[in-house]
Amino acid sequence: MDNLKISNMTISDFENISPTLTSDFDDFWSCKTLYSELNNPHSHYIVAKIHTEIVGFAGIWKSVDDVHITDIVVKKDFRKRGIGSLLLQKLISISKELKFKELTLEVNSSNEVARKLYLKFGFKELGIRKKYYNNTDDAIIMTLYM
Ligand SMILES: CC(C)(COP(=O)(O)OP(=O)(O)OC[C@H]1O[C@@H](n2cnc3c(N)ncnc32)[C@H](O)[C@@H]1OP(=O)(O)O)[C@@H](O)C(=O)NCCC(=O)NCCS
Repeated sequence: MDNLKISNMTISDFENISPTLTSDFDDFWSCKTLYSELNNPHSHYIVAKIHTEIVGFAGIWKSVDDVHITDIVVKKDFRKRGIGSLLLQKLISISKELKFKELTLEVNSSNEVARKLYLKFGFKELGIRKKYYNNTDDAIIMTLYM
């Protein structure tokens, strides 16, 4: 996408998306959590913008040995245009630059779209956490060895 730019998420970006976070992006991240992540020195968040419109964001949490993807979300009207792939590519390159060897995440087992995205980038489904979400849905643990 020609006009798409990826940059680090700022507090001003957060203020920009917070009113529509659950309606236009996704319903499983609260503004409060995202705000605290932005202020966490172990976290790194990026946004995808077309001109000034934020069309996606994603974040990682840096642990001692590995990096954890905390979220990757594309604005509903902009899905299936390659933006999720660009965000994921950027998280992978940030992790490589930081010399991490593993990138890991949990995804709801029913989230076929996200699982496909991660598989496409070489993530392996290595484990399962039973009833991880709301004590109902299983989480699949996926890891990319870089
Ligand atoms: C998952 C998500 C980030 C993908 O973003 P996107 O911009 O639509 O993804 P892309 O256009 O880059 O597609 C990348 C790949 O994802 C998979 N994919 C994307 N949309 C899909 C769909 N509707 N059905 C099946 N596979 C799909 C495909 O493998 C696709 O590759 P392809 O185009 O070569 O077939 C987006 O659907 C989203 O924000 N979902 C809600 C939040 C979420 O579930 N995040 C993951 C939490 S772990």
